[in-house]
Amino acid sequence: MHDFEHSPPTPGCTAAIIPAAGSGERFGDARNKIFATLAGQPIWFHAASRLRARAEVGPIVMAVAEADRKAFEAEFAPLVEQLGIQLVNGGAVRTDSVGAALDAIADDSVVMVAVHDGARPLVTDGDLAAVFAAAWHSRAAILATPVAGTIKRDVGYGRKSVTIDRRDLWTALTPQVFHLGLLKEAYRKHNGRPATDDAQLVERIGHDVVLVRGAADNLKITFPEDLLVAEAILARQTNHA
Ligand code: CTP
Ligand code: MG
Repeated sequence: MHDFEHSPPTPGCTAAIIPAAGSGERFGDARNKIFATLAGQPIWFHAASRLRARAEVGPIVMAVAEADRKAFEAEFAPLVEQLGIQLVNGGAVRTDSVGAALDAIADDSVVMVAVHDGARPLVTDGDLAAVFAAAWHSRAAILATPVAGTIKRDVGYGRKSVTIDRRDLWTALTPQVFHLGLLKEAYRKHNGRPATDDAQLVERIGHDVVLVRGAADNLKITFPEDLLVAEAILARQTNHA
């Protein structure tokens, strides 16, 4: 049994799950956005490399859509091998994909799991360290960033708005990091109710999730123009490394 309060994380104790099995509809390309490149490398590879660079990370399991699997392996087998990634087929919604990856974690030395979108190539090593450390102590922590805009709720079918106080509102990012047993329990009890992130499933079973303030530029590639912004952020990160 691990003494979470007092012992430091051991090398390889954390499995990383990378959901990359969406269809990239909003990106609108003929091919899934996970094939898109940023500075010459596929976006998923940026995300996976940053996880692989952390000593805490042992197994990496990545969910790929069944429809993309053949093309993905044909194109990226050497990169998948280089990072020691295990591939699984994803499912219809993100929680199905994460659930499939969770079921594939076989290594008995794994005690924590970090779920990180394949479409988030820019997470920094400092943010990874911070959220891993917070989760190690609390068993559930996610990167998040304060909401920047003024938020309105439409209460009159497009004709009446109220303003929501944004001071305690955060945008959830990834990684989202949990004690493995806790996330497995949350998934066992999930029963298909829609959820847009993993922390929501953990909240539902009554466990607190710590918000760790991370860089707002840990953006998710959603629309094609996000790649332009991502390139600028990557260039700045590379210059300051
Ligand atoms: N994802 C997944 N399985 C799904 C849906 C999404 O693994 N069934 C992954 C995506 O590949 C992505 C991450 O979850 O890395 C965040 O999802 P999102 O940005 O919404 O990607 P897509 O669902 O692919 O895009 P869209 O919603 O525009 O179709
Ligand atoms: Mg989606």
